[in-house]
Amino acid sequence: MLRAVIMSPDTEISTRLGEIISRSGKIGLVKTIDRYLVSYELERFLRANAPQVVFLGIEQLTHAMEVLQGVETYMPGAQVVALDRGCDPAVLLDLMHLGVREYLAYPFDINAFMATTARLQDLLDRRPAQIDATDNVFTFLPSKAGVGTSTLALNAAVSLSQQPDNHTLLMDLDLNSGLVGFMLKLENVYTIYEAAENSNKLDEHLWPQLVANIGKLDVLPAGRLDPQTRIDPLQMRQLIAFARRFYRAICIDLSGNMEKYSLEVMQESRKIYLVTTPEIPALHLARQKYHLLSSMDLGDRVSVLLNRAQKRPVITTQQIEQLLGVPVTMEFCNDYRGVHNALTAGREVESDSELGRQCTSLAYAMVERSQPGKIAATKKKFLEYFSVAQAQGTPSPATGTPGSGGALVKR
Ligand SMILES: Nc1ncnc2c1ncn2[C@@H]1O[C@H](COP(=O)(O)OP(=O)(O)OP(=O)(O)O)[C@@H](O)[C@H]1O
Ligand SMILES: [Mg+2]
Repeated sequence: MLRAVIMSPDTEISTRLGEIISRSGKIGLVKTIDRYLVSYELERFLRANAPQVVFLGIEQLTHAMEVLQGVETYMPGAQVVALDRGCDPAVLLDLMHLGVREYLAYPFDINAFMATTARLQDLLDRRPAQIDATDNVFTFLPSKAGVGTSTLALNAAVSLSQQPDNHTLLMDLDLNSGLVGFMLKLENVYTIYEAAENSNKLDEHLWPQLVANIGKLDVLPAGRLDPQTRIDPLQMRQLIAFARRFYRAICIDLSGNMEKYSLEVMQESRKIYLVTTPEIPALHLARQKYHLLSSMDLGDRVSVLLNRAQKRPVITTQQIEQLLGVPVTMEFCNDYRGVHNALTAGREVESDSELGRQCTSLAYAMVERSQPGKIAATKKKFLEYFSVAQAQGTPSPATGTPGSGGALVKR
């Protein structure tokens, strides 16, 4: 079934079209709006509703044309059907130049409508509407309770949100002992339950009311302890599908109990960060979870994060990798004081602490961006190396000394 929206100030046209759409059984009407939206409002509307077809009233032609251009920009491939009471050939020609291929004249005729629907279906099969949705969905899975999963998820999410143009969401799906809300001192906020309950009617108005903002990060905490309420996998899918269109990155903190909805979320994720500490029980459970995920064809998405790594380890990283059968992607230092201070202040760990820097590195690696500071540092090292080499008497290319040729000398 095609997803459609109606945008028309003519409410009579919208109502009649709505009726014909529901009679047809071929199109799912997601939203009707009685005014023309522009710029970011239009973008948000399109992202939230992801229509394949936009039925657009054209009685205010200039506004309608702006919408048309917006649809092409924000949702290329979505088909626009012009709606009007009359049919001015000059106007139709203009619309055709702007890419409108279908027109429905009011009062509507069911046969004409069905023929239009068939053509739309055909066009969309050949050129699907490109819904701009992120694939940057990351889950954080503890090998064992208390290994520091929420700490890493929270700090990576904060760091992600601080990257340019990287609107980020952190969802706490540890329904029994979710701590993200507490860690950020969030009070009287909506939770994952309300979001799940409304998962089939989320839109650009409801969503901002559901999430809490911490700086540039949006957060959906786990909320109250409620053994009666469950979240089903379908709600989870709908929630993530919606969030994918709204954010550039989504981090999800899991409980480690491998509930149905957690498995659903991991199926939706690009990466599963399996968090462990270097202790034997945590490693044992990490191995079990990795095997389980591998048996579900999710093994290649797993990256191991070694938290509270010791300076002089009893078990080396290499031994851990052998034990788990998967490489350790990143290590995080043990910083009890830093984490404690952050918890007391209700915020992320200090970004210039060792743990803070490691979380920032993780955040950049997650979205495969290079870290600005890191490049600068590498360049600096390179230049320092070069000037040291020159100071030590290495021939300079500028002097034209034989053998220089601009090549660097290995130390
Ligand atoms: N790198 C670290 N250095 C020192 N302490 C840490 C570190 N990471 C986490 N902790 C501490 O370990 C404890 C557990 O952390 P956290 O709640 O993040 O773990 P979790 O895996 O999410 O646990 P849960 O199973 O309860 O969800 C907390 O007290 C936290 O402050
Ligand atoms: Mg946790």
